[in-house]
Amino acid sequence: MKIAVVGSGYVGLVAGACFADLGHDVVVVDNDQQKLAALNRGECPIHENFLPELLHRHRGTRLTFSDDLQSAVRASAAIFVAVGTPPTEQGEADLSYVESVARGIAGAIDSYKVVVEKSTVPVYTSDWVRKIILRNGAEHGEFDVASNPEFLREGTAVTDFLYPDRIVIGADTERCAAVLREIYAPMVDGTYYLRPDAIPRPDRAQIPPPLITTSAKSAELIKHASNAFLAMKISFINAVASICESVGANVQQVCQGIGTDSRIGPRFLNPGIGYGGSCFPKDLMAFRSVARECGYEFRLLDEVIRINEEQRQRFIRKVRSALWTLRGKKLGVLGLAFKGGTDDIRESPAILLIKSLQAEGCEICAYDPAAQERAKEALNSSIKHAESAYEAAEGADALLILTEWEEFASLDLDRLRAALKYPIVIDGRNLYDPHAMAMNGFTYYSVGRPTISPELLTPPKDTRPARKISRS
Ligand code: UGA
Repeated sequence: MKIAVVGSGYVGLVAGACFADLGHDVVVVDNDQQKLAALNRGECPIHENFLPELLHRHRGTRLTFSDDLQSAVRASAAIFVAVGTPPTEQGEADLSYVESVARGIAGAIDSYKVVVEKSTVPVYTSDWVRKIILRNGAEHGEFDVASNPEFLREGTAVTDFLYPDRIVIGADTERCAAVLREIYAPMVDGTYYLRPDAIPRPDRAQIPPPLITTSAKSAELIKHASNAFLAMKISFINAVASICESVGANVQQVCQGIGTDSRIGPRFLNPGIGYGGSCFPKDLMAFRSVARECGYEFRLLDEVIRINEEQRQRFIRKVRSALWTLRGKKLGVLGLAFKGGTDDIRESPAILLIKSLQAEGCEICAYDPAAQERAKEALNSSIKHAESAYEAAEGADALLILTEWEEFASLDLDRLRAALKYPIVIDGRNLYDPHAMAMNGFTYYSVGRPTISPELLTPPKDTRPARKISRS
């Protein structure tokens, strides 16, 4: 099928490349000339596993890039809208880019088209897109508007797209649903997964994925409600972690006990320094606004957001309790990205924490395997950047772990201890076993688990004679 994808951000670019891999002819439309030039040169603008391979595989054949929306619409049966929906100051989604694309599409409709929302948008957006297209000259029956939300995570976007837990098609007419079913047919009938060149199957993937058909409004709500629920899960476990800290329990054990209940599940139960990124913070505020506009005060979401913000304050208090005063302290920081596996620093808890610590007078030397360049811009070069975790730790009063990169979980602890001025690690992502850290000579702070230091390991003197354990 001939498909246009408008917007070459995370969602648009990944969707375009994956549709091409499913066998469709795709044109990705953007008005950012620099980005188009880079894509046409074969560059991949984001750090995303398998994306460079897919771009290389299909660029210039099944996948092209253009700034000509009108021609792309005329040439395509389906137009996916994947432009940005940034938050306004009030926290609502700014839909002006979506509206302007809808106007552009209207002028080019010359045969039946399916216009598909791929960006995360509030409920009612499909209605508005329909109205705007009609107002701008298209006729009833010449087009349908559908919602086909995307559930991909940054860092694993390509595999999330091709091996999803489900595909949601929100279509209000059968004609429109049929077009979307045809687009996803290679996944739903399983033929894509039989191809020798298919992107490798990740663990846990269910193939073929189920396809869920709903109304457009339900699909819009599915996207917001999914993100809100996942954020709620994170805030819930962060709140439980705070109680664990107060009573001396271990949140990891609590998570194991909760997560093995199949109704709850173990995923997205990792406590830390709060969620960040370009989706959860924005989508929660947008969902709350949508609910309010519909007459429902979704106070649960207020609390999810509040716990998330408090989680960062708690971490600062932890740094203070480890170092007493902060002015003039030198801190090594591991991680700048909002999570591991990406170079994205939007709403990164690591960046927000660094700014707070700088405001308290700390000197920061940070290392991130991918987000260094982007962080330099965001922090106006006000921190030092190291080339490795060990260099970040060099001479520091303490080491802070702020992003869950895999490489931070397997550091050479002897080398790390030797680099630090004091062997203090404050781990906002619970990457290490506290006992092992103390055994290696560290005072180790983490989230929701007791703080431990080498002194605490000395076993109490037992003066009783050793007894043989009798087993019956
Ligand atoms: C999120 C959703 O997971 C995707 O399903 C969705 O498609 C996407 O938003 C979107 O709406 O576009 P993403 O923002 O890429 O994906 O990142 P996540 O992996 O969800 O992580 C979000 C934040 O939560 C990160 O800061 C991460 O460190 C944090 N997190 C995640 C935790 O603190 N604990 C966890 O257990 C999981």
